[in-house]
Amino acid sequence: MPGPEAHELLIRPYRDEDFTEVTGLESAGVYERYQSAVFVRQMATLSPATFLVAVSGKTVVGFTVGTIVQDDPAQAWILRMMVRDGFRHQVIGTALLRAVAGVLHGRSVKTIYLTVAPKNEPAVLMYLREGFDQESLQPAYFGGGEDRLVMKRSS
Ligand SMILES: CC(C)(COP(=O)(O)OP(=O)(O)OC[C@H]1O[C@@H](n2cnc3c(N)ncnc32)[C@H](O)[C@@H]1OP(=O)(O)O)[C@@H](O)C(=O)NCCC(=O)NCCS
Repeated sequence: MPGPEAHELLIRPYRDEDFTEVTGLESAGVYERYQSAVFVRQMATLSPATFLVAVSGKTVVGFTVGTIVQDDPAQAWILRMMVRDGFRHQVIGTALLRAVAGVLHGRSVKTIYLTVAPKNEPAVLMYLREGFDQESLQPAYFGGGEDRLVMKRSS
């Protein structure tokens, strides 16, 4: 069997220009069927200190996932922020945000980024209230029709 070099294969880090093709592969492959489960398992393995849940009684009523940038540990991204319907507007989101930011800062993170749908008013307002600024609007960040606002907070 020929080795990989026979294909003039190049293995390189992912770049922004690969987005459409990699997204296509990801959704055509095995991952699509259990996308949420894959994400939860992967983040629990990769970023356990900044994968936080909010628990009320015995129920998980919210969670957040933060992760530190591999090439620049002074930067981090909050990848998920979710409070269960029926538990919103009780400052649980704010508590999760403060908690994950606290852990990140404790690990010498100086700048936290996140993306949010521009029309997601409750989320945008919460982030603004917590000191995040609007950094840029990224058209089609998650594909056609899925623009995202990048927000940033530096300490
Ligand atoms: C965005 C989200 C996480 C916010 O969570 P939350 O727990 O409702 O947020 P908070 O309660 O901390 O803050 C929200 C509201 O509580 C209000 N609030 C603040 N202090 C309060 C208090 N002491 N008592 C009552 N309400 C208070 C805030 O003013 C805010 O007002 P709003 O209703 O006008 O937004 C939640 O709406 C959600 O899960 N949305 C769906 C997922 C999502 O969009 N995630 C963000 C992706 S980037």
